[in-house]
Amino acid sequence: MDFRKAVATKVSEVTGLDLETVNRLVEIPPQADMGDYAFPCFALAKTMHKAPNMIASDLASNEAFSADWLSRVEAKGPYLNFFVDRGEYVREVLSEVLKEGLTYGTSDEGAGKTVVVEFSSPNIAKPFHVGHAFTTILGHSLSRIYEKLGYKVVRMNHLGDYGTQFGKLITAFRLWGDEQALEQNAIDELLRIYVKFHEEEKKDPSLTTSARENFKKLEDGCEEEVALWTRFRDLSLKEFQILYDRMGVTFDNYNGESYYSSKIPAIVDMLRDKGLLVESEGAQVVMLEDKKLPPCIILKSDGTTIYASRDLAAAKYRYDEYHFDKNIYVVGLPQALHFQQVFAVLEKAGMPFAKNCEHVGFGLVKFQNMKFSTREGNIVTLEDLLNESVAKTYEIIKTNAETRNSDLSEEELHNIAEKVGLGAVIYTYVKAGRERDIVFSWDTMLDFEGDTAPYLIYTYARTKSILRKALASGISPAETGSALLKKLSGDEEFACVKMIADLPDAIKKAASSNEPFMISRAVSGIARAFNRFYNNCSILSGDDEELKVARLALCQSVCDCIELGTYLLGISVVDQM
Ligand code: ARG
Repeated sequence: MDFRKAVATKVSEVTGLDLETVNRLVEIPPQADMGDYAFPCFALAKTMHKAPNMIASDLASNEAFSADWLSRVEAKGPYLNFFVDRGEYVREVLSEVLKEGLTYGTSDEGAGKTVVVEFSSPNIAKPFHVGHAFTTILGHSLSRIYEKLGYKVVRMNHLGDYGTQFGKLITAFRLWGDEQALEQNAIDELLRIYVKFHEEEKKDPSLTTSARENFKKLEDGCEEEVALWTRFRDLSLKEFQILYDRMGVTFDNYNGESYYSSKIPAIVDMLRDKGLLVESEGAQVVMLEDKKLPPCIILKSDGTTIYASRDLAAAKYRYDEYHFDKNIYVVGLPQALHFQQVFAVLEKAGMPFAKNCEHVGFGLVKFQNMKFSTREGNIVTLEDLLNESVAKTYEIIKTNAETRNSDLSEEELHNIAEKVGLGAVIYTYVKAGRERDIVFSWDTMLDFEGDTAPYLIYTYARTKSILRKALASGISPAETGSALLKKLSGDEEFACVKMIADLPDAIKKAASSNEPFMISRAVSGIARAFNRFYNNCSILSGDDEELKVARLALCQSVCDCIELGTYLLGISVVDQM
């Protein structure tokens, strides 16, 4: 039963106002003592020719508002406040979770629809830095969220594998490349020779010429240059793959920028046929002043293509290949203008899918008092960040385990540290609105009491252990539909159940706004509410056996919500820690 809907239906029946309007107006009051749902009576003032306060107090005493799922209705100023019957409500909500388990919150809103999610898209031969981690984590999470809602998801990795820098790398590798180093640590080696190229180029301009020639050869498909480039690409991907595997990230399509360069002539012809291409200072551009945007360059004056033209070709490819209903680009905010231009060109060219393309931007990544032994170029890589986080987590849980005399083996401790340490990093990326900048600090992200993954995972593991203990002594949680669930009507239990009831809606909102933090907020709300309850009562002691069984069902539900919620964020839980 959907209580919100039930309240709206009742209000509509009693007042005659249409259901749709009522539905839109029903609110969740800011404080628990104002009820569970509220209806503001302003909308009735015109038809009823009365002040909203009066309407509210008249309606509050209307007999028609009685129902077995409603405990009382009160007027407060212009608001009509509804208090649901807690027992009924709890039974209803928990029964659903107990029945559905980890599929709780699943919906079919996306049935038959396809979403292309482009994310990660690192650059070949360059370190995988903490900005690429942002898109990787957001995109991975969004993909899981859309899948949960029944969409077919296509995960695209638009690799940066094209550009004049590959001419430089070919020249540099032939001069200074170290075969062994390349095989062992491709990205470090490629970065080393790339940095060296730029230093040497200042003294020796012939290097610039050589790099340009090599890029031309690469574009023309000359065998040796293509072979080197392919090696750089494969070796880089192999390194990225290690990170992806570690985080459980997968892709359906790795077509990088280079893949689209052969598709650009068709785009240029199409734009020319539609009369959109004009010459400006030797370059071919599409004017966008009607959209208040600077012109989008399609071909440079030397006839070479640019980033934007490859994106035009890529968007069309995605549509032709996948017929997407939505095509999202999880890319940093500094590229916002680029995407506005690309989408505007698609729209001017009459591409029907232009309106279904969306840039999902995010902020910058900063560090607070964190030291890394950074490599050349002073770049903090995701690998550094993960390793450091895992090492620090290990220290914390090892100390905890020693204090508690726990019997976790060294291997178990390492496995737990890996999951919790990764979780801590991932959570930092998804705990706030994505457009906000992120500030990493070990103290904050590894705070087991804070708004962190360690806190969520710890809550999960501790609750699991209560369930294990109970089972071992022969007590199992109340089952779906059980009348015993009605016993959970204390303020704290009820508050926790309300949070659980809100999770499915948070998942929907996360998708519609492309904001995974809607889920992190909902899950941390559940964990916090549960802990408030847990800290004030001992679940397995006392002699009310029925209450124990009911409370264990709450434990079970909380575990499922944390597990499914963290899964949607890309975080794994552990059963003990
Ligand atoms: N490789 C680019 C970078 O690292 C991001 C690619 C974004 N995606 C796109 N379709 N342009 O900045």
